[in-house]
Amino acid sequence: MNLKDKINLSTLPKHIAIIMDGNGRWAKQQGSDRIFGHENGVKSVRDTVETAAELGVNYLTLYAFSTENWNRPQEEVMALMQLLVHTINAETKTLNKNNIRLKAIGNLKSLPTDCYNELQEAIENTKNNTRMTLVLALSYSSHWEIVDAVKQIAEKIENKTLSVSDINEDTISAHLCTANMPDPELMIRTSGENRISNFLLWQLAYTELYFTEKLWPDFSKDDLYQAIINYQTRERRFGKTSEQIN
Ligand code: IPE
Ligand code: IPE
Ligand code: MG
Repeated sequence: MNLKDKINLSTLPKHIAIIMDGNGRWAKQQGSDRIFGHENGVKSVRDTVETAAELGVNYLTLYAFSTENWNRPQEEVMALMQLLVHTINAETKTLNKNNIRLKAIGNLKSLPTDCYNELQEAIENTKNNTRMTLVLALSYSSHWEIVDAVKQIAEKIENKTLSVSDINEDTISAHLCTANMPDPELMIRTSGENRISNFLLWQLAYTELYFTEKLWPDFSKDDLYQAIINYQTRERRFGKTSEQIN
């Protein structure tokens, strides 16, 4: 029995989020520069998107570039932006063929113009696709997102379209970049780092976390299957007791 057959399709996570980490270390192992690692990470992105869509996952969110990543050497940042432009351009056709809609979350206005334009174009060109939504987190961090949400809410209070007593959890969710998306049930991080690195802090409140030693360019279909199988062995109690759940 192969791994795929061990997955229970009726309890598949609807939304999987991934921190794609370890490109730099992978390249180092090969005796190459970090950029080579990022280039090789693209294949894992392609495989993961295809596999998730085939299984029937509704949302796949990939952390591609964080707010903090702007602080990397300029050369690496520029190479990542170029890789992004190139990849989005090259993959739009496949997204359409596979009926996948592209979205992006983060401070998109901070992206270089060509990158921003390419992204908006791909989002526009894939907006009617219905099989899966691929969400790229770009220039994204939760702290940025939460500050932005607070500003939007404060503005509504100021111009009296919202009153303080009406603010609840839904109000916060609705002002995050992920408004209208379900929270992830499963979050995967590659490369053996056991941290969240400013990713979806609000949305991950009850998400199952899965950490693997695999470096992102080595992350394969089987690794995704393995993560889902592991997720399906867990009991999600949401504060209740095991007896209440069963
Ligand atoms: C993840 O790989 C890709 C991005 C953050 C853009 P890294 O570049 O962080 O690789 P490591 O962690 O240095 O190995
Ligand atoms: C997190 O990876 C961001 C992305 C994968 C895009 P990093 O490699 O930047 O995370 P830290 O700084 O090591 O936690
Ligand atoms: Mg890293």
